[in-house]
Amino acid sequence: MQGGNVIIYGGSGAIGAASARAFARAGASVHLVGRTPRKLHAVAGAIIREGGDAHTAALDIFDGEAIRQHAETVAARGGIAVGMVAIGVGHVQGRAIADLSLDEFEAPITAYMRAHFIAAKAVAPHLSADGVFIALSTQAATLAFPGMLGFGTTCAAIEGFIRHLSRDLAPRGARAVCIRCDAIPEAVEAGSHSAEVFAAAARAQGVSVSAMLADAARATPLQRLPTLTEAAACAVFAASPAAKTMTGAVINLTGGVS
Ligand SMILES: NC(=O)c1ccc[n+]([C@@H]2O[C@H](COP(=O)([O-])OP(=O)(O)OC[C@H]3O[C@@H](n4cnc5c(N)ncnc54)[C@H](OP(=O)(O)O)[C@@H]3O)[C@@H](O)[C@H]2O)c1
Repeated sequence: MQGGNVIIYGGSGAIGAASARAFARAGASVHLVGRTPRKLHAVAGAIIREGGDAHTAALDIFDGEAIRQHAETVAARGGIAVGMVAIGVGHVQGRAIADLSLDEFEAPITAYMRAHFIAAKAVAPHLSADGVFIALSTQAATLAFPGMLGFGTTCAAIEGFIRHLSRDLAPRGARAVCIRCDAIPEAVEAGSHSAEVFAAAARAQGVSVSAMLADAARATPLQRLPTLTEAAACAVFAASPAAKTMTGAVINLTGGVS
């Protein structure tokens, strides 16, 4: 990754920050995008103190023109090696269709698909020949769970987006990869939006968040949930020469549950 530019949308979040640190340790220049300067500076500061190279841009992913200009500015310093979407958007989980409005169903689908399109549109023209666009999904992309109509459909759409985007990127040699990840308990502790999403889902089941996550771990063949370090390591692997034939693909971090 030496000197390669890595843009992480949602770079101040739980998975985004862990991935930024991992990319920086691999020698990349990381560019963190999020709305809150304080959160961005905290992550960039930690990376710089470790000897890494980090830059921040306080932008809203839904401001397509600002995102396009930012990618162009980053690319002027030697192209873009990685564009990663680690945006987290609050949404309803835990309510079945009888108690779900059209707006609540549609909200995560619209938000996540717009975010992925805007990021990919900004990054794609500048991706280096061995560059990669990385997205995140969950096992709800292929498995059915109660109360997941909106977000489960979103996850399936993200994986479909990556599959089709891979064909658009292939002529320039660039790739698209999705990391399908089970719930990460550490993300809740790190202040992820998932804390609120999981709290509502747990309430609907009449259990605590920690009990719900313990059940989720037991439901996996490996009896464990992924860590932030593992998710970040997968992102670095997806960008490495070892993955240069991997595109339109899903890296599965669900302990065998899907
Ligand atoms: N956490 C998990 O257990 C888990 C498991 C599997 C998959 N995932 C997926 O991984 C992704 C990231 O999850 P996470 O837990 O790391 O989320 P998170 O900790 O809540 O981080 C979300 C990031 O997105 C940024 N963001 C939110 N809205 C934005 C906007 N409009 N424009 C720009 N930046 C925005 C946030 O910063 P600002 O709020 O300052 O903008 C923050 O940097 C999500 O798509 C989630 O579905 C998470």
